[in-house]
Amino acid sequence: MKRVLSGIQPTADSFHLGNYLGAIRQWVDLQNSHDAFFAIVDLHSLTVETDPKLMQERTLKSFAQLLAFGLDPNKCTLFLQSHIHQHNQLAWIMECLAGFGEASRMVQFKDKSLKAGDARTNVGLFTYPLLQAADIMLYQADLVPVGEDQRQHIELTRNLGQRFNSRYGETFVIPEPLILKSGAKINDLQEPKAKMSKSASSPSGLIDILDQPEINAKKIKSTVTDTGREVTFDEINKPGISNLLTIYTSLTAKSISDAEAEFDGKGYGDFKSAVATVVADYFSPIRVKTNELIANPGELCEIIEFGAKKAEQVAEQTLRKVYKQLGLLPRSLDEI
Ligand code: TYM
Repeated sequence: MKRVLSGIQPTADSFHLGNYLGAIRQWVDLQNSHDAFFAIVDLHSLTVETDPKLMQERTLKSFAQLLAFGLDPNKCTLFLQSHIHQHNQLAWIMECLAGFGEASRMVQFKDKSLKAGDARTNVGLFTYPLLQAADIMLYQADLVPVGEDQRQHIELTRNLGQRFNSRYGETFVIPEPLILKSGAKINDLQEPKAKMSKSASSPSGLIDILDQPEINAKKIKSTVTDTGREVTFDEINKPGISNLLTIYTSLTAKSISDAEAEFDGKGYGDFKSAVATVVADYFSPIRVKTNELIANPGELCEIIEFGAKKAEQVAEQTLRKVYKQLGLLPRSLDEI
């Protein structure tokens, strides 16, 4: 069985539609056909200043959402990154392997540090992709299901894995990104040329999965209006409608041409209402289930602990091998 690994940050009270369509939905399918590891990457989320109480709440809520979406702790290994200290240990090795120049070329780092300014850019933001590379290689993942925005980080991971293998001998599996053809980049409803993101300048372009359906319906109906009247897929001239078509077809499993035919002769208003209904119907049960799971934090913590035990074994095995390949002297002579 091929192994997959992916991660998501617990940075908000709810995952958004981009997280679901770009990543989580694939995870739910992959747990049936692969040896799957999924992490809530809480250490990554420390690159933004956090409130400790919120951090705990959001971490539990993130697990509850993944379970509500259908991840099953008996089919996949679902764990919290900070429970497995080997992530930080391997991250250091990755930092020593990566060039300053290649880390400086990461587009997400460039964008985020430009927005934040030098004074508010921490070193963690710079080394973020190296911790991500450690997450992936610690589990010897063959595949990494992510949204389009993560392609460059996976490419860096591959380069680092190849570099390590050629310097110190075959150690790491070199992972491939698994990026969907449709849904890999869901855009902001108000700025449909930019990706939907928790850090967007305005919340009106973001669909939070746990929000009340009326709030999301209002946002969808106020999606920026493109020129023309026809509901057709044209990312250059109709980015707003094209984004909604991607969302609509992803959630209904209809093709773009079927959706275009369905709304032929109808205006943008009818189409937006239909998208709002589909989003509400799809996510309402998830919201209910998440709330049920959050009401029982003891059970959630047991699931998280169960995942940590499974993840730790694999992580420790890889780290030992890496230390050995590097020639780091073991504590006991028997291990040499
Ligand atoms: P995060 O939490 O920012 O995003 C989680 C996943 O959601 C995808 N995504 C999107 N997909 C489509 N459209 C969007 N608008 C959109 N916004 C986000 C992201 O591509 C991602 O797959 N760096 C990772 C977290 C991570 C990780 C890892 C991933 C840490 N270690 C190891 C894979 C393997 C991230 O982007 O998290």
